[in-house]
Amino acid sequence: MKQIGVGVIGFGTIGAGVVDILNKNGSEITRRLGGKLKLVKVADLDIETDRGVEIDKGLLSTNVNDVLENPEIDLVVELVGGYEPAKTFVVKALENGKSIVTANKALMAVHGDEILAVAKANGQDVAFEAAVGGGIPILRAVREGMAANKVHTIYGILNGTTNYILTEMKDKGEDFGKVLKDAQELGYAETDPTFDVEGIDAAHKITLLASMAFGKKVKFDTVYTEGISGITPEDIDYATEFGFEVKLLGIAKFDGELVEVRVHPTMIPSAHLLSSVKGVYNAVYADADYLGPTMYYGQGAGRNATASAVVGDLIELARDKMNGVSGRVPPLAFNAESMDDAVIKPMGRVKCRYYVRLMAKDEPGVLSRISGAFGDHDISIESVVQKGRDTGQAVPLILMTHEAVEENIMDALEKIASLGVIDADPVLIRVEG
Ligand code: HSE
Repeated sequence: MKQIGVGVIGFGTIGAGVVDILNKNGSEITRRLGGKLKLVKVADLDIETDRGVEIDKGLLSTNVNDVLENPEIDLVVELVGGYEPAKTFVVKALENGKSIVTANKALMAVHGDEILAVAKANGQDVAFEAAVGGGIPILRAVREGMAANKVHTIYGILNGTTNYILTEMKDKGEDFGKVLKDAQELGYAETDPTFDVEGIDAAHKITLLASMAFGKKVKFDTVYTEGISGITPEDIDYATEFGFEVKLLGIAKFDGELVEVRVHPTMIPSAHLLSSVKGVYNAVYADADYLGPTMYYGQGAGRNATASAVVGDLIELARDKMNGVSGRVPPLAFNAESMDDAVIKPMGRVKCRYYVRLMAKDEPGVLSRISGAFGDHDISIESVVQKGRDTGQAVPLILMTHEAVEENIMDALEKIASLGVIDADPVLIRVEG
């Protein structure tokens, strides 16, 4: 029976999950593949810690070259994370004739072009299903399941940490700082949570999804990114009152000309399927011309789900190795030669509904001056609620607009700030769905 040699770089949580699947589901995998995925080497700087999986100690090495330069290895799993040294390892493995499976969204979102070019030049493949949505087979769905379509919209909850925080804030009425601290103590949030809470992780993921959905090269640094650290329990309560949930969404839309791609806290109707996605779960909504709307839901992180995506990729690339082919399916869903750079719609031209909370002076005439500023900027107000009564003092004034152009909203808020009738910076949350 044909054997395909596998080397793993990074024996942390996901690496251990990969070894566990190969141990326990090995014979099922062989039945699917018609060959055997053989674990040849696992490299990590720490090979002493017990990872809770059975492994022959002789397979462990602290020298990454035991994987990168091993002639018995056909497929390398990169689970180091981050940009470097992961990129150096990946490039070296490709140059040594090994295809890559990676869960590294930062690497693929920022250096994907370069890595895919090296892969092509060396007749190798790169698979990265685990980089977006953890175990959810969303990239395969976009790449192959939607291949008959023009996809125009793809958005979703792409970060489990922030979804957990927002869920806890809503359920417990606690503020962001307190929930984040608890999440760190429980191991749900990283010690340095910046990538997650500031939306960077979601921006990496929507960069990849948008490129693959629309066949346009989206650059990570063109994604408008705003995190959840400014969200308060108060705004979550008002959202509930208006019939909405607050979620951190990665959003990408394509009108055939301009690509809109952004990550920010978003209000979505409570009845929207994404509203029922709680805790660390992820979900992606996609809409395409012939297919119509679809949704994908599952565990966006964690050992087993992520390792499931990694091993699924190993099986796919092993099939190609066994058949002596590469580049069979373009990794970004479209042939590289046909993918030009996305023309990004500036945020100022984005159109959606807006939730605006102002701390406005409780005085006669204030509301008409505020609504006048919105009207002067072509913004129609759907509803407005004043919370409380405190003559001469500031009280929360919550406005929901109809669809409006973002630069008009910003101009109107600047005008309102100059009127001397509000006390604090306005809170603005975009509304979708
Ligand atoms: N840090 C990510 C999250 C998981 O919180 O969803 C890995 O992509």
